[in-house]
Amino acid sequence: MTRVLPVTVVYFDSPLTDDERRARLFSGDIFVFSATPGTKALVEFARGMAEEAFAPHFPPDAQHQMGAQEYVDVLARLKPAFINHPRCKELLRQIFEDLGVDVGQTHFDVPRLRTMTSDYLNAGLTYQFHAHRDTWFSAPFCQLNWWLPVYEVAESNVMAFHPAYFGQPVKNSSAGYDYGEWVANGRQMAAAQVDMDTREQPKALEEINPEPEIRVVMPPGGFMIFSGAQLHSTVPNHSGQTRFSIDFRTVHRADVQGRGGARNVDSACTGTNLGDFLRATDLTQLPADLIESYA
Ligand SMILES: [Fe+2]
Repeated sequence: MTRVLPVTVVYFDSPLTDDERRARLFSGDIFVFSATPGTKALVEFARGMAEEAFAPHFPPDAQHQMGAQEYVDVLARLKPAFINHPRCKELLRQIFEDLGVDVGQTHFDVPRLRTMTSDYLNAGLTYQFHAHRDTWFSAPFCQLNWWLPVYEVAESNVMAFHPAYFGQPVKNSSAGYDYGEWVANGRQMAAAQVDMDTREQPKALEEINPEPEIRVVMPPGGFMIFSGAQLHSTVPNHSGQTRFSIDFRTVHRADVQGRGGARNVDSACTGTNLGDFLRATDLTQLPADLIESYA
């Protein structure tokens, strides 16, 4: 799709088909949906796990009631338990069906449970550090990102899009990033780091002008979809509560095969994350030679 003006459209509860939707997502538009049976069930499931892990504390407030190490320890157990839970994979399939997505063609990466504490354990992080495209991290240009809050969110603890950069390059360090290397070295280190994440990750090497900026505040169960090439950041959380959110990624097999997706304006990383994607129907990987062709 080509646009005369650099406009980013935000669609709410759009009845477009999946093919039409993906075409618009690849040109930088954002899709927001009200809760579906699948997203409601996923939020319910995540809350159940979080509330059990943090009991007797309410998860968004637990950061104020626990010591730092104790808090990090709870998250270190909770997050992988959620990510790897088979129920999550079933619920993702339900979400795709709710939205009319072809589950036989759609592959997803396991949903991550993310937390962003409020003015706590995140000293020193700035917009510039956070603003990134997933395509700097070896994502294919057809990758779509899905995001949903687990508890109520506010404008001070959601995520932000910087759509002016969708078609505009940003100087960045993605050339030094290789997905295979990251998997081998990075993930083990993450567990050991409490105060500050010091791993070498792709980042912007120039100042990002955050404006114009789009923040979408939605009720739990509501969700949004955007291109992995969209420049996005985490809003510094001053809300007083920890943000709990879930995100996951999808690719449509036809897009992978046809090299469809957003335009590459500035990504120079090597490797591919495509080996992580599982088909929604039977949890099989994409064909090895197809993955290899992206590596
Ligand atoms: Fe991201």
